[in-house]
Amino acid sequence: MNVIDAVKTRFSVRKFLDKPVDKELVYKILDIARWSPSGHNMQPWEVAVVMGKKKDELSAKLVEAVKNRAERKYDYYYGPKELPEHIKARRNQCNALVFEHKGIDPKKDRDKLMDHILENFRFFGAPVVLIIMREKELGEPSFVDLGLFGQTIMLTALEFGLATCPQTSVAAYPYIIREVLGIPENKMIVYTIVLGYPDMDAHINKLRMPRDEVEKFATFYE
Ligand SMILES: Cc1cc2nc3c(=O)[nH]c(=O)nc-3n(C[C@H](O)[C@H](O)[C@H](O)COP(=O)(O)O)c2cc1C
Repeated sequence: MNVIDAVKTRFSVRKFLDKPVDKELVYKILDIARWSPSGHNMQPWEVAVVMGKKKDELSAKLVEAVKNRAERKYDYYYGPKELPEHIKARRNQCNALVFEHKGIDPKKDRDKLMDHILENFRFFGAPVVLIIMREKELGEPSFVDLGLFGQTIMLTALEFGLATCPQTSVAAYPYIIREVLGIPENKMIVYTIVLGYPDMDAHINKLRMPRDEVEKFATFYE
C-alpha cells in the first residue's frame, strides 16, 4: 500500500473481528513504528501491549468503573470546557454524526448512550490494546512525538490488513491501568490504540468522518 492510500483509507474502526493478532505481528509493527521522528531523537514513547486475559481483566475493571461513575482523572491537562467556536462546531458535528449513524438520541436513549460509551472500554472487541505512555517529567513537545508515533503505528497496521482506533477516553482512568498492569506512577498514560482485524460488514465501520478543505486551515505566505 502506498503512503497516500494508507493516509486516505485509514479510519477509526469501532468493531473488530473475533480473530487474534499474532504477538510477532504486533512486535513487527512496533519495530517499524520506532523509526518515527521525535524531538532531539528522544523517542519518549513507551508502550504496554495488552492482549489475552490481561486485556479482558483491564476491560472488565474499566467497564465497572464507568458504570459506577468512577472519577475521571487524566495524567495530563485534558483541555478547557469551553472550546473556541469553530473547534466546538467540529466536535459537535463528530458526536452528531456518530449518534445519527448509530440511531441514538443522547438526550432520550440513556441506556443506548451508556452502551455506546462502554464500547470504548470494551475496546470495540479488538484483541490488542496498545497503551502509549511517556515519562511524566517531560515537556509538552513530547506529546507531539507520541502522536506521530501513533500515526505511524496506525498506518503501518494497514499494510498487514489490520485496523486501529486511537482513544483518549480510556486514559481518563490511569489509576485502573496502573493497578491492573503494575505501571509505575512516574509514567504518564497518554492514550491507547486498539488494534485488530476490522469487521468491515459492521454498520459502525461504514461511518466516515469529513474533513475541512485546505483553505480552512492553511495560509500561504509568499
Ligand atoms: C487523540 C485522539 C483521541 C481519540 N479518542 C477517541 C476515543 O476515545 N473514542 C473513539 O471512539 N474515537 C476516538 N478518536 C477517534 C476520532 O474520533 C477520529 O479520529 C475522528 O473522528 C476522525 O475520524 P477517523 O479517524 O475515522 O478519520 C480519537 C482520535 C484521536 C486522534
